[in-house]
Amino acid sequence: MIIAFLSQTFYVLADEGMWILSLLKKQEAAMQAKGLKLSADDIYNVNSSSLKDAIVWFNGGCTGEIISDQGLVLTNHHCGYDAIASLSTTSDNILDNGFYASNKQNERKTKDPLSVSILVSIDDVTDKVLAELESISDFALRATKLRELSTKYTAEYGKGDKNLDVRLYDMFKGNQFFVFVYEKFTDVRLVGTPPQNVGKFGGDTDNWMWPRHTGDFSLFRIYADKNNKPAPYSEENVPYKPKHHLPVSLKGISEGDFAMIIGFPGRTNRYEFADAVQLGLDETNGAIVDMRNIRLTEWREIMNQDLQTRLDLSSQYARVANYWKYFIGQTEQLNRLKVVDAKKQEELAFAQWGANNEQYRNVLSDVKIAIDSYKPFAKHLYYLSEGLFNSELVKFGNNLVAYYKALESGNEEQINQTKERFIKLINDADRNPLIWSADQKIFARMLTKYYNDIPKNQHPAFIKNAAKKYKFDKNLDAGIAKFTADFYKKNPFTSKTNALKFVEKANIKSIAKLDAFKFSNDLINIYSDVIIPEYRKYSATLGANGNVYMRGLMEMQPNRVFYADANSSIRLTYGSVEGYFSSDAIKYKHFTTMRGVMEKYVPGDMEFDLPSRLIELEARKEYGQYADKDGSLHVNFLSNNDITGGNSGSPVIDGEGNIIGLAFDGNWEAMSGDIYFDAKYKRTINVDIRYVLWCIDILGQAPHIVKEMTIVK
Ligand code: ARG
Repeated sequence: MIIAFLSQTFYVLADEGMWILSLLKKQEAAMQAKGLKLSADDIYNVNSSSLKDAIVWFNGGCTGEIISDQGLVLTNHHCGYDAIASLSTTSDNILDNGFYASNKQNERKTKDPLSVSILVSIDDVTDKVLAELESISDFALRATKLRELSTKYTAEYGKGDKNLDVRLYDMFKGNQFFVFVYEKFTDVRLVGTPPQNVGKFGGDTDNWMWPRHTGDFSLFRIYADKNNKPAPYSEENVPYKPKHHLPVSLKGISEGDFAMIIGFPGRTNRYEFADAVQLGLDETNGAIVDMRNIRLTEWREIMNQDLQTRLDLSSQYARVANYWKYFIGQTEQLNRLKVVDAKKQEELAFAQWGANNEQYRNVLSDVKIAIDSYKPFAKHLYYLSEGLFNSELVKFGNNLVAYYKALESGNEEQINQTKERFIKLINDADRNPLIWSADQKIFARMLTKYYNDIPKNQHPAFIKNAAKKYKFDKNLDAGIAKFTADFYKKNPFTSKTNALKFVEKANIKSIAKLDAFKFSNDLINIYSDVIIPEYRKYSATLGANGNVYMRGLMEMQPNRVFYADANSSIRLTYGSVEGYFSSDAIKYKHFTTMRGVMEKYVPGDMEFDLPSRLIELEARKEYGQYADKDGSLHVNFLSNNDITGGNSGSPVIDGEGNIIGLAFDGNWEAMSGDIYFDAKYKRTINVDIRYVLWCIDILGQAPHIVKEMTIVK
């Protein structure tokens, strides 16, 4: 008795589930029991303003929230990173130094336009869609039908308004369907960012880990036309007036406090088959990690040598590193938490329950057959898509192949299009000699792994010939080094002038002579004639059986509350502020403070250096109104919400509807979370909103930005 009581008190279970906003009524009582003071209607209402009006899909990959009546948007630093890095130059280095616009005129137009989308409505169209799909059993034909329906709904819901973004979302593996309508804004300007040694403090060493001390935020503003409607960038545009903006709470948080997150989770695979998870562990995760690691180690070397090179590569580096570490962690935690075994248990129950049912009987065996037949090709897919296809020279090679095919077809339009694309690639390509020399090293290392790890019977002719000519079997490293040196020497693409000259005069014969063409042509043929068809077969079988399995699970467990996998549609997850036991007897507290920032400080380090002003302010304990009642400045905190990539930048909202933090990461012990939710370990890592405001107001000396906000004390 006592033990049960104790364990309930100490392990307040995380709340699994990413809920669809239009169906929140079903969660209302449970949410209120946890401390929500609002109603489901206050969160999602199509007729009057509600919380949903303050949440934005940030550039199709992150989340942001509106925190002033003038369209001020808060999101993560890592979500604004590409925009910030691409505005940075060696003489105006806002990535390293930070930036706050002193007034609206100084807000920065980004290099590539950013977009934000705001939810208008959600409609359940399951019955209508299923009626259309009923007679179609073939998976590929179903997909075609769904594309048709999506076009139909776009016309129906979009009503000819080009600013409305209409999306038909498949939920529960094709068992339910919803139409989401968003209004999409395309004039979004940079308002502010902390220096990256605050916004990315801890770098990749701390990424995906707790305890954390990162000020992972940046600020943007939505601009609209005079009628408050979306418009492309124009000097005439004015700040957008939102229907709702989130008030900012400076009250602070305690363990157990209600916390909910609204955002745009990208992908989860919580109902994945055990064998498919095993395939990831055996083949694909390692392939992704190895290929990414090659790029990262070579890039790191040259980024350390030269500031311009670092600015050129920072954004790409961060993106590649983020999921490099993700797949290391996912592999580790899937193994530690024995996720395959847990899934096998569930599948066993399903198999027994469905043994006599025509529909369900063959699901698991069909899946197993599909996986076994795809398995020999699984690595190859990633050695190309995550590997060799990313080499700068191979990218030119791939364009040579497209251009060759166009010339061969004689189709004028196709020729012009591919030529134009080719010229653009040449003009955009980085001519930085450091990047080219790193590219050559990356290529050699990837090719070595390819040669060793991919079954020889899948090797294309060009590689087989190179292996003979350069005697790979005698001394692989020497052979590949020589081959690579020749391969990189004999092409016109390292020089822009030569490259443009070549394309201008190129014909089928001159292209066919280039090694870069032969190499890419062979690889692309293997890729599209062998690997992709194998992959399609595999994913169609998994898709079709996943659809049936999901339906079966719901039938088998009529009382279980199911939630749909993340698919980039807007969702809500609720729970509370909570620490966790990372392992036996080790309890992680639910928040970090400036003390930890200083403990991690390493002067001159790429990841753990700090701005000198921050050190001075900290020495004087100048926290202003942002100090906690305990006297310290809180930096990050944990909640037990159910989020994934895409939720980055989402607001953590208290029971009254105020923002208390900004979600930015997950923790190491639950890196398997996209496949399996473990309530004991799964936590969301958030920036305390008071740290965000301190960074803007006191560290960044931009109090005018804080003045725009609605502060709750
Ligand atoms: N892991 C975070 C996410 O996917 C991104 C953190 C970015 N920071 C970094 N050091 N790469 O949401």
